[in-house]
Amino acid sequence: MRYSDPVKRVRIGLLGVGTVGRSVARALVERRDVLSRAAGAPLVLQRAAVRDLSRERGVEPGVLTGDPRSVVQADDVDLVIEVMGGEEPARALIAEALQRKKPVVTANKRVIAWHGPQLAQLAAQRGVELRFEAAVGGGIPLIAPLTDDLAANRVLELRAIINGTTNYILTRMAAGETFESALAQAQKLGYAEADPGDDVDAVDAADKLAILVRIAFGLSCTPAQIFRQGVRGLDPQDLAYGREMGYALKLLATARRTNGKVEARVHPTFVSAEHPLARVDGPRNAVHVVGDLSGPVLFGGLGAGGDATASAVLADVTHVARRLALGDPVEPPRSSVENAELLPMGEVRTRCYLRLAVDDVPGVFAQITRVLADHEIGLASVIQREPATGPADVVLLTYAAHEAAFAQAEAELSRLPCTRAVRARIRVEEART
Ligand code: NAP
Ligand code: HSE
Repeated sequence: MRYSDPVKRVRIGLLGVGTVGRSVARALVERRDVLSRAAGAPLVLQRAAVRDLSRERGVEPGVLTGDPRSVVQADDVDLVIEVMGGEEPARALIAEALQRKKPVVTANKRVIAWHGPQLAQLAAQRGVELRFEAAVGGGIPLIAPLTDDLAANRVLELRAIINGTTNYILTRMAAGETFESALAQAQKLGYAEADPGDDVDAVDAADKLAILVRIAFGLSCTPAQIFRQGVRGLDPQDLAYGREMGYALKLLATARRTNGKVEARVHPTFVSAEHPLARVDGPRNAVHVVGDLSGPVLFGGLGAGGDATASAVLADVTHVARRLALGDPVEPPRSSVENAELLPMGEVRTRCYLRLAVDDVPGVFAQITRVLADHEIGLASVIQREPATGPADVVLLTYAAHEAAFAQAEAELSRLPCTRAVRARIRVEEART
């Protein structure tokens, strides 16, 4: 199917002029020449929707409206950019734009993670494009390279730092800052979601991983199927013990093929200090992909922030605008859905880091190692510090075992007479480099 008549200029309807929308609007003006060269036609900001019309947006006041539906319904809008965020009304607005045969570019991972396949189907039926490069990894080119440049591969493994806010928080905590102060700074810098609970509880990362699993593994997957644990309650002491053992703590999104199934999970993870992901700090994101032909490939850059995200949005915009300007054919959707299943979390195997607060009395190790041995969990190394007063910290690093075994062992360890508390259990990855 083709976009009907070639257009002389591409008139854009922008839904949202917040952190990302403002950067997009500014670039449309300040980078007019470079964008029009890339698109093959001038790009014009025709209409823009916000909630609060009284605030200064850095765009011509005449283009602003408080009614986002009027933007998608307007005859003088050729292409819609959705950067409002949230599930509704964003999903309904995207659907209406596609229904009206207007191509859509969005940065909205929530909508794409939960409704992407249905919206893609609608776009295909209406013969227009739906693109979402900015939905994962902010400014990092990721969706297009995974879709096109690695198309000949069977992806074996993908490990990713895909939430800038939590990576920023963990980096600051490793330098001694508190969780609360690091989060406040991430919000101030525009990295966090409107509800920062989506960042710290790994909701955002699970949304993004669901999108990556669909693209990289061709597996139909929703965020609800992904095991998710966030960074709330992490103790800087565990970051310090981890560093002593040669690890950096990251909120890692992992997907990999195991026994004919695919694991998909997001949780705090110790990665070897030697792994490229260990050195990804602050709001930066990185995705480490292992293809069966390509071997390891690392994508990295700014995963959050207005300008970086606008770069990805505008990459999609120029792609679509070029087709509109030339009247080029629209790519048919790819049918790549595999029949593989997701591996239940209990069957996932990792190493684990455990920190217990125990009474400093004889026989403690015998009790602990018996519980681990009962669940076939091997001990790789141990740190114990003689306490000045009170209980002693015992830090254990295990060999790989099933998640279900760790869960049972943790419950039994917490009930031992010598145990005051299981302070932390953090999974440890031996990732390919
Ligand atoms: P934001 O700063 O909260 O901006 C949202 C904009 O949408 C605001 O201008 C808001 O208007 C407008 N809006 C929201 N609901 C509306 C409604 N019902 N009607 C009219 N206007 C409405 O959000 P953001 O950080 O730019 O993020 C936008 C999207 O990009 C989200 O999907 C986010 O997940 C995604 N994203 C963000 C980043 C990032 O670093 N920020 C990176 C990658 C992807 P008011 O200003 O009047 O409230
Ligand atoms: N809140 C998100 C993050 C924005 O911190 O990564 C980018 O998607």
